[in-house]
Amino acid sequence: SSTSYEAFRQFLKSAKHIATLCGAGLSAESGIPTFRGEGGWWRTFEATQLATPSAFKANPSRVWEFYHYRRELVLKKQPNNAHKALMDFENKILSQTPQNQTFTVITQNVDGLSSNLKNLIEMHGSLFRTRCTKCGDIDKNYNSPICEGLKGTENLNLDSNIPIEQLPSCTKCGGLLRPDVVWFNEKLDPNIIDKIHEELDRCDLLLVIGTSGTVYPAAGYANYVNLRGGKVAVFNIEDTGDADFKFIGPCGETLPKALEV
Ligand code: APR
Repeated sequence: SSTSYEAFRQFLKSAKHIATLCGAGLSAESGIPTFRGEGGWWRTFEATQLATPSAFKANPSRVWEFYHYRRELVLKKQPNNAHKALMDFENKILSQTPQNQTFTVITQNVDGLSSNLKNLIEMHGSLFRTRCTKCGDIDKNYNSPICEGLKGTENLNLDSNIPIEQLPSCTKCGGLLRPDVVWFNEKLDPNIIDKIHEELDRCDLLLVIGTSGTVYPAAGYANYVNLRGGKVAVFNIEDTGDADFKFIGPCGETLPKALEV
């Protein structure tokens, strides 16, 4: 059962520090597959073959096909009303004079659809950044296709065995580039973890939007906030269990109403 918007709005007004944790469900209404829901990436593909360091070492062509495909898909999509609600709410907070509330968005998504938020933490990286496996250079690249070898692969073909020299290479050292995303069994950037914990330690309210809460460390954040007395508001199409505030339904509808934007 969903809580009343009125009760939530009352609390929202009194919250000094507001944070959100977003998952794939935030972008579902933009037409981007989630991971574990209907049509989810890990329903269709085996994550251990596509989103792990060992998968990339064994077959960089297959991993690049998958991430290139996701990049090209996202480039054709638009932010939805939930993304817009976060942006409008951030604008509202930032235009307070004096500013008496803070608002930070922590996202697990790598689709870049929240990238125009000012206070954004992309904890799993971004499809639109690459990292050199040799010199570590980070490059923001939005060009499509990312390289000749991956050109024209609209329909995903995981077995095209593109030779490594035709995969994205570093403009600085020629090394093989990888997507700048966090894979399974990889550690998160410690600086990002610290920034996240600053928010989790001070927030009066954590909005948990469109995440199944199955991948750590993100999966533990709601409980962490709850244990220190912060309030948790869940926005999800499924009932993911107890929360101080719960809005069951598509976040493209529930989030704008709750944030009154
Ligand atoms: N509105 C709200 N919630 C939605 C919507 C929607 N329109 N559509 C789907 N959801 C919910 C689903 O009910 C589910 O709880 O979004 C959640 C999506 O869960 P996952 O597919 O597991 O995605 P996510 O939680 O982001 O996965 C976490 O796992 O594979 C890794 O790095 C990947 O960041 C990802 C992490």
